[in-house]
Amino acid sequence: MDAAVSPRDRAGRTVLERAIALARHSDSPEHYTRTLFTPAHRAAARQVAEWMRAAGMAVRVDAIGNVIGRYEAAEGAGSRAILLGSHFDSVRNGGKYDGVLGILVPIACAAELHARGERLAHAVEVIAFSDEEGARFQTSFLSSRALAGRFDPAVLARRDADGVSLEAAMREVGLDPAAVESARIDPAGVAAYVEVHIEQGPVLLREGLALGIVTTIAGGTRNTVRVRGEAGHAGTVPMAMRHDALAAAAEMVLAVEGRCAAGGSLVGTVGILHVKDGTGNVIPGDVELSVDIRAAEDAVREAAEHDVFEHFEAIARRRGVSLERTRTHHVHAVPCAPWLQDRLAESVRRAGVEPRRLPSGAGHDAMIMAEVCDVGMLFVRCGAGGVSHNPAETVTAEDCGLAVEALLDFLRRL
Ligand code: HGY
Ligand code: MN
Ligand code: MN
Repeated sequence: MDAAVSPRDRAGRTVLERAIALARHSDSPEHYTRTLFTPAHRAAARQVAEWMRAAGMAVRVDAIGNVIGRYEAAEGAGSRAILLGSHFDSVRNGGKYDGVLGILVPIACAAELHARGERLAHAVEVIAFSDEEGARFQTSFLSSRALAGRFDPAVLARRDADGVSLEAAMREVGLDPAAVESARIDPAGVAAYVEVHIEQGPVLLREGLALGIVTTIAGGTRNTVRVRGEAGHAGTVPMAMRHDALAAAAEMVLAVEGRCAAGGSLVGTVGILHVKDGTGNVIPGDVELSVDIRAAEDAVREAAEHDVFEHFEAIARRRGVSLERTRTHHVHAVPCAPWLQDRLAESVRRAGVEPRRLPSGAGHDAMIMAEVCDVGMLFVRCGAGGVSHNPAETVTAEDCGLAVEALLDFLRRL
């Protein structure tokens, strides 16, 4: 072992190398995509479990595929565990660090404690959430919802792009869809939940700070909208007689952008636009689009969502197309507990970083865990201009090492 390298830098290098290794478990040979219950997802789960065991943790897999490592407390400690964690699924063609950093940093903390034979005043559980992005079945926060007792069995019928249902996908990997309820955790056994995550924005990078403390996590809603017009021959139907579903959807995309450009923390995105049976010489008759609207203030988001769908209705009436709207995701803005913010800020300062508190525009499992216990979040600086949900997403080993040091300090002082 290279004695010249400090424990902090060694831990940071391990976190970075493991994130890169984990990204090799991908659904696609071309880029990093890891969606729920695919072979790559199962391989990543096995790898995370192996690292947890090597860090002296007892490992279990729950009824929704979460991999949970437990590092026992000192003799006679209290019964409430501190929960840490994040997700190990990804968006399509995503970045290597979104989610997995919040699993690997806590495992590095447990490894450090294990190497010293050190036990804390409380048990530590690291949760590798199986499905946060929901990219395969449109099921955001699926696995943290199950842990919080908020699982909606109706999602079992959701189908992926190949028509496979979540229920069938669960059975295929040996999970019982009827047993998901057993994943619920007992809040009495939980002291708090803290999630380490990349910032996914430019603030820490711009201010030259390796770490940040999250104040609130923006709320969001996601809708799937189906626009039905009339398919027809591209060469024979006069323009004035068309009910073109894609032209209508294109206006709707710009309506989202226009309304959500109102400023502040409000943002709106159409990430999916699918033309059913799209063919170059056919007027599109059936189109599906996703609408993602978020803001730090719930009232701002709800007003924008209302206006956007009123505008959609007006476009549909004018163009003679029909709309079918399904809300697939809804979370309120969640404040991080002030006492956890303060504790994390003290540990960040002791790691030699000026504590910077900032909101999160991205959603996280912490929003759902807030229904179980107090939550806190520690941000790690993003390189490459702060980009995320993009293969260019990057962090440094040094910043990962600082995150391990700050989190370990936080855990020891709880
Ligand atoms: O969409 C989000 O904010 C997160 O990446 N699931
Ligand atoms: Mn993400
Ligand atoms: Mn994430």
